[in-house]
Amino acid sequence: SGRVAVSLTINGTQHVLTIDPRTTLLDLLREHLDLTGTKKGCDQGQCGACTVLSDGRRINSCLTFAVMFEGRHITTIEGLAAGGTLHPLQQAFIDHDAFQCGYCTPGQLCSAAGLMAEGRAKTPDEIRELMSGNICRCGAYPNIVAAIQQAMG
Ligand code: FES
Repeated sequence: SGRVAVSLTINGTQHVLTIDPRTTLLDLLREHLDLTGTKKGCDQGQCGACTVLSDGRRINSCLTFAVMFEGRHITTIEGLAAGGTLHPLQQAFIDHDAFQCGYCTPGQLCSAAGLMAEGRAKTPDEIRELMSGNICRCGAYPNIVAAIQQAMG
């Protein structure tokens, strides 16, 4: 009782699910669709590990209800490498050793993809500032910024 239907497109595939209306987008991805590349860190909007793209814009999926995304297109880390080719950001993260434990990496990559689409960041300082919602406990920030800079060309 009280469950609702939601239809959303995730990484190009439409899904129709019947869920508790309080289900976060993060839990829908991880628990209903087994898309566990999107990580749960704080579950309170403070770490960015859960970042995905909604129609190209980056969001903290832990702070949202899945029903808010009716009809939207969601891209997760599983959808970033189109056609089996690494996204330029993924290659740049490898080239620059932009991760250590890797837990924050899916969120960093999705956030960086959103940042590139926004087209606002030009300098390393601007990248740092506009990526400040994505915390890295290992402190890989210099390498992350360098990788994003490379991918932005
Ligand atoms: Fe969503 Fe930390 S898990 S911001």
